[in-house]
Amino acid sequence: MAAATSPRQRRRICPQAHQPFVLACHFDVTSGSGGRCARSSSCCCCGGGPGPGEWSLSESRGGTRREWGTGSMEREGGKNAAVVAVVTEPRFTQRYREYLEKQKLLDRQHRVAKMPDGTVALPVLGEALREQHLRELRNCVAPGSTCIVTQLLHPVPSKKAQSCSPAQRLCLEVSRWVEGRGVTWSAELEADLPRSWQRHGNLLLLSEDCFQAKQWKNLEPELWETVASALGVRRVAKRGRVSPDGTRTPAVTLLLGDHGWVEHVDNGIRYKFDVTQCMFSFGNITEKLRVASLPCAREVLVDLYAGIGYFTLPFLVHAGAAFVHACEWNPHAVVALRTNLEINGVADRCQIHFGDNRKLKLSNIADRVNLGLIPSSEEGWPIACQVLKQDAGGILHIHQNVESFPGKNLQPLGSSEMEKEHWPYPQQIITNQGTNGATGDSRRKTLPAATKPEWQRWAESAETRIATLLRQVHGKPWKTQILHIQPVKSYAPHVDHIVLDLECRPCPLVG
Ligand SMILES: C[S@@+](CC[C@H](N)C(=O)[O-])C[C@H]1O[C@@H](n2cnc3c(N)ncnc32)[C@H](O)[C@@H]1O
Repeated sequence: MAAATSPRQRRRICPQAHQPFVLACHFDVTSGSGGRCARSSSCCCCGGGPGPGEWSLSESRGGTRREWGTGSMEREGGKNAAVVAVVTEPRFTQRYREYLEKQKLLDRQHRVAKMPDGTVALPVLGEALREQHLRELRNCVAPGSTCIVTQLLHPVPSKKAQSCSPAQRLCLEVSRWVEGRGVTWSAELEADLPRSWQRHGNLLLLSEDCFQAKQWKNLEPELWETVASALGVRRVAKRGRVSPDGTRTPAVTLLLGDHGWVEHVDNGIRYKFDVTQCMFSFGNITEKLRVASLPCAREVLVDLYAGIGYFTLPFLVHAGAAFVHACEWNPHAVVALRTNLEINGVADRCQIHFGDNRKLKLSNIADRVNLGLIPSSEEGWPIACQVLKQDAGGILHIHQNVESFPGKNLQPLGSSEMEKEHWPYPQQIITNQGTNGATGDSRRKTLPAATKPEWQRWAESAETRIATLLRQVHGKPWKTQILHIQPVKSYAPHVDHIVLDLECRPCPLVG
């Protein structure tokens, strides 16, 4: 294995060397000659420089190994992918394969490779291969055969390997690499591998509940190169707990790579952010789409928890909002938000208010307020009431995690079998079609109503509380109306992230 030989021990031999054991000429990859022939710049057999796909030779205590690769042996990721193989003449391939299979030595994850000199290389499980196996191959299985051990630096995955899931591939590559480092692969290590992750372009974000066993520590940092190589990314990060301090900072550590900036394109909107500093919830996609479809032309909006612009941007780009005041207190999120407003061409229609939104100086300006904070945005309710237009009122979109109890399941009313099958989250859940104060929002087509009683109860209590706040803030009575309750995602067992659309209008003065 590449890990068993130091760079100093490695020498390349030219591809035209037809006799495997004859070292026709050397390329010293550590000499600073850039991998060129160390003997002569016009070497008779190769013209002085390695072509693509050259042979290379490793010398280790265990004997001599040839290596096959395309390019520098020190290239990124190359050493993780290397596999051990046994080389022989093509006519002995079948006998070799049968023997290796019987001995449980055959590596089924990689294809047999054809070498430039006409021999074939059968990938094997290098950790289990012993000198005695080679002797048997040479003397008993196929007398007279060439039998040498090599390394395939860039092995081609077999059909079987290509069809395995990313998690299986990860397990395979990591276990192989770990054993190559002399560490016994165990059920404990296997159980500690990640089952799922977030892929942000070429950055893999692992959850906190994996790679916790202490054995991994000794295998860092190369372990992360193996993980990256197995899953086809270049950077790896791992999340800790989301900080409970209100900034929702996810405590992400970068394990491989030099920065955590990533980009997502979602519904035609570009979002850039640093995963080590800001959160991104894939689960909010339905709500982002819904927000994008709201009729917000000529409206002024306040987004009290703007983050990197998850809702601010759809409001501006798709819903046609005239202007958004975006509040955010995490400086890293503000940097990303500013960038995202610019790259989406809407910076001139947004003002960022950096700091605690509870101290916001704005009042009487908003047609609509977005309160996108879970588990609860309740601390933002007074300021939301304060920014609503005094004479016209507006709509609040209030996010909340609501707990419900097992056994009391969602009750789709009057939905077809088909709809029941696709439950739990149709587009419209509760829609109040009351006649007073109808808006573009409440006139939208309704699908069969369905709810959990706990959502309805929470919505009603929120409505009562907001009505009280509005009266206190504006010094006059307001009427409120539940327009809609939208489930966003299941946050935890029996906990749903929902959004209440609450219409708030000042009561007309009587007399
Ligand atoms: C959950 S993120 C919201 C992002 C987006 N709305 C979403 O759901 O994906 C909440 C954001 O609100 C910010 N935040 C929380 N409390 C705040 C406050 N009092 N003032 C300003 N920003 C606040 C956090 O820093 C965070 O970026």
